[in-house]
Amino acid sequence: MAFDYPSKLRAYEAALQRTKDALREDDRDNGTLFLDKAVSLSAELAANAAIAEFQVRFKKEHDQLLKIRGLLEKGENPFLKTKTVTPSSPKSEQKDGEPATTGFFKTEVPSVTLADVAGLEDVKEQIRINVLLPLQNPDLFYKYKSDAGARIVMYGPPGCGKSFVAEAIAGELKCHYAVIVVPDILDKYVGEAPKRLKAIFEEAERYDNVLLFFDEIDSMCASRDSDESTHTKDILNTFLTCMSGFKPKGKALKVIIGATNRPWALDAALVRGQRLDTAIYVRLPDEKARAFFVDKEFAKFPDAFEGSDLTKEYVIQATEGWSGADIKTILDQAKTRTLNRVIRDQLPPGQFYKVSKDDFDAALAAHHNVVNPEMLLRYEAFEKGVGL
Ligand SMILES: Nc1ncnc2c1ncn2[C@@H]1O[C@H](COP(=O)(O)OP(=O)(O)OP(=O)(O)O)[C@@H](O)[C@H]1O
Ligand SMILES: [Mg+2]
Repeated sequence: MAFDYPSKLRAYEAALQRTKDALREDDRDNGTLFLDKAVSLSAELAANAAIAEFQVRFKKEHDQLLKIRGLLEKGENPFLKTKTVTPSSPKSEQKDGEPATTGFFKTEVPSVTLADVAGLEDVKEQIRINVLLPLQNPDLFYKYKSDAGARIVMYGPPGCGKSFVAEAIAGELKCHYAVIVVPDILDKYVGEAPKRLKAIFEEAERYDNVLLFFDEIDSMCASRDSDESTHTKDILNTFLTCMSGFKPKGKALKVIIGATNRPWALDAALVRGQRLDTAIYVRLPDEKARAFFVDKEFAKFPDAFEGSDLTKEYVIQATEGWSGADIKTILDQAKTRTLNRVIRDQLPPGQFYKVSKDDFDAALAAHHNVVNPEMLLRYEAFEKGVGL
């Protein structure tokens, strides 16, 4: 009987999930049972996968699962270990009654860096001069400037890398990094949001190098003249006060980054000098940036792409007007279409199709572009006319 790849894959994923669930509860009997199932299914999938990429993936997962089994046999449960990487230790000790952390700071350093960011040279430049230079060459930097850090607001259409850049900067600096999605604190902590915000800044003060990323910052910054609720005004005022006190001391780096899709909604008080004084338009990827995504994807999956009638140049041209996030999704959906054809046609092990131009065109046609020309005109007008 032919190897039923989809149902084996489903069984494997279910076994993996059950293994994790059981071991997280420290239920070692069931954990070992499901783990054994996952071990044997991963071996079957590795042996029968049609695409070399998948053979490698399942073999790697199989080896990892064997390692987990080895640990369990020694009486260790790796799922109970909490992995926390603390990039630098808090400066001051925790006072009695003060919460240890606000929960907004990440406990692990992101693995991405600026080298993973396509395009956006102006953001990278700002960060190189104001943040990386003082770290790497303090003697030179402090001849010209008395403190280091950056206060940037990034604006632009969805999916073009605003959040990704913030993560990459934190990865580059290996610093304490908090992501605060402003509407979340407004919704979750009604009446409490200013207090939460203060606590975040207080926690940030305890660290040397730190990056605070405020996503959807416009939701706290509706113009003060508008008829916003007191609630929103309170949080904006708190933010302004906290930001004024949040200054680099000594050679510590203090970075604040805001991101928004609606720069025109920002309060003038927030974006004037000494506050978030550098505004950067995070635009749709240009040809060079699109080539970055396409090169990376083709290099990562050479079996899937090399030698196909789908060329890099074609993808780069066809994706003009799409965001980085969309380009990634479209390529991914094109691969899914190819994979479905391989499974449907029951190709023998070792044989597979390339991602064809048809697969790609179909994936592109099926995808909806949320970025429209009117939206772009509005950002461009904002960039040229209003400035900050
Ligand atoms: N310039 C880029 N460089 C590298 N990856 C990118 C870039 N733009 C988008 N991406 C990819 O797309 C994903 C989504 O992008 P991201 O979340 O950073 O967009 P965003 O601008 O923050 O969107 P939103 O306005 O919806 O919050 C990222 O995780 C990344 O994988
Ligand atoms: Mg984002």
